[in-house]
Amino acid sequence: MTQTITVIRGDGIGPEIMDATLRVLDSMSLGLQYEFADAGLVALEKHGELLPQSTLDSIRTNRIALKSPLTTPVGEGFSSINVELRKRFDLYANVRPAKSFPNTKSRFPMGVDLITVRENTEGAYIGEGQSLSEDGETALLQQRVTRRGSERIVRYAFELARRVGRKKVTVVHKANILKSTSGLFLRTARTVAQEYPDIECNEMIVDNCCMQLVMKPEQFDILVTTNLFGDILSDLCAGLVGGLGLAPGANIGTDAAIFEAVHGTAPDIAGQGKANPCALLLGAAQMLDHLAMPEQAERLRAAIIATLEARDSLTPDLGGDGNTSSFADAIMRRL
Ligand code: NAI
Repeated sequence: MTQTITVIRGDGIGPEIMDATLRVLDSMSLGLQYEFADAGLVALEKHGELLPQSTLDSIRTNRIALKSPLTTPVGEGFSSINVELRKRFDLYANVRPAKSFPNTKSRFPMGVDLITVRENTEGAYIGEGQSLSEDGETALLQQRVTRRGSERIVRYAFELARRVGRKKVTVVHKANILKSTSGLFLRTARTVAQEYPDIECNEMIVDNCCMQLVMKPEQFDILVTTNLFGDILSDLCAGLVGGLGLAPGANIGTDAAIFEAVHGTAPDIAGQGKANPCALLLGAAQMLDHLAMPEQAERLRAAIIATLEARDSLTPDLGGDGNTSSFADAIMRRL
């Protein structure tokens, strides 16, 4: 069986890490076919727009996309192409695993294996109703949280826990202060949790959660939270386990899903062959899970871990003297 995926090579280091990732995927004989589509600066130059209709059509048809980072130029229509994609396809679940990897000089080289499930379509992060008073002295922002939005993200977290054999879901909130928005999220989460007696559920206020993550991250399994808190917490989690070069993310909706690296286009190292391809490769592993190929996903993760353990051809961000291409070759040798 073949599966066609939309591939967006992106800007900056995007094409380098995507080419490495596709070479690794090809070596696994997964039956994947690629439909290349443009977005970001490349699309602006070629098609005169950052997010061409042909790219949207490709994602709509294939329902799965693997995406490299994109540059959103300031003052070109969207505040962010990524936020626009989430809106267009109602990609309500942002799923970011953070796992300890060996030889990464991280704060927690072992013991952390958690997943942040962030609501991706509501809350303060969307920037709804932003305004500044005429005298520039007062700024306003609306925060919309709905029962439907809260219910589906919390349900996603519990279903994910069941699917991948996780034991605990922590609901992260600030309902003691943000009584309307965070309050609705928490009450809804409590109701949904009752349907999953097999999964332990606990609650944590977001500020305490930040401290607990830094002090004792191994206590967490799956975290579920609203958009802005999730944005901040998931980067914090990436920082615990080796930084952006190893942090993948998935944006999942009912009709489409987009898999990516969490990092940006890294213009400071673009075109130099120094980019670490692991974050995008780990995003590709999430994609394989989504495509019901969990064994192949695990095979890919195991090859990455074995390469890190052997310190074989690691990129400079990991203290190695390899490059994007030789790192990918080293991973392929261990598949
Ligand atoms: P960045 O993540 O691109 O870079 C931050 C630092 O991390 C840089 O020193 C960079 O060299 C390093 N780095 C990032 N990825 C790396 C990798 N794979 N291997 C080795 N080193 C890596 O963040 P920055 O500089 O804030 O943003 C640059 C551009 O990327 C901006 O235009 C921003 O809008 C865009 N961006 C796009 C995202 C996306 O499309 N998903 C996400 C974040 C930023």
